[in-house]
Amino acid sequence: MPKTSTSSRSKKRIVVGNWKMYLEKPEEAKRFASALRKRARAFVGVDAALAPSFTLLPTVAAALAGSPIKVGAQAVSAHEAGAHTGDVSAVMAKAAGASFTLVGHSERRAAGDTNALVHEQLVRAASVGMNVILCVGEVERTQDGAYFTEVEEQLASAFKGAQSYASRVTIAYEPVWAIGKSAADAMQPNEVHEMVIFIRKVLSQLLDRTAAMKLPVLYGGSVEPANAVALMAESGASGFLVGHASAELDSFIEILKACKN
Ligand code: PGA
Repeated sequence: MPKTSTSSRSKKRIVVGNWKMYLEKPEEAKRFASALRKRARAFVGVDAALAPSFTLLPTVAAALAGSPIKVGAQAVSAHEAGAHTGDVSAVMAKAAGASFTLVGHSERRAAGDTNALVHEQLVRAASVGMNVILCVGEVERTQDGAYFTEVEEQLASAFKGAQSYASRVTIAYEPVWAIGKSAADAMQPNEVHEMVIFIRKVLSQLLDRTAAMKLPVLYGGSVEPANAVALMAESGASGFLVGHASAELDSFIEILKACKN
């Protein structure tokens, strides 16, 4: 596998833990975040972040205050404020301690978030000063290569009229079919590499070329300690969005260590 020459390779790698609904209670979240902080020397030089559920944001933010480990939300509402029962606005997530948010995660898309909604969520979050991890990825892979078009449409819709927010955005490529499996069933580094190149090409058409090259492109989908090193070395990705393996401290730290330069 050839070494890639994308500019992202020389930058800090990013590893974001998406806790989904795995960690439930403030006590366990606090224990995890404090232990991660104590062991931060093991992954010095890697940009580490956690995305707990809304209810755990204040606890995790407090446990990590003053440390370089960032805290973010898993989603935010497309609405600014008002009569939206059950929604959490970008302002609320920020006030609870989130400096960034995921938008467009496939589990949100499966629950009904369309490309248009994802665009609105991106704009809401970025306009209140949050950074945004824009998740894209195809549901399945077919021989005709339709998955390229799917990812292209997700990117184009998210950035339409929002190009000025590009500097706040990180892309996470997460093919739905590779999520929640084990390393053995995950995507191969060369397949990820092909998509990272494609995403960069699409971004350079949507955005100013220099801005496009600066956007980190993460990979997510069954990243575990067993495949993190090879994925980091050969995929051209700027880091990882980690689901199930981020809910277990030792495996999350192993993945963070795999991303050290
Ligand atoms: P996984 O999840 O690592 O459990 O596959 C990744 C994600 O959905 O963000």
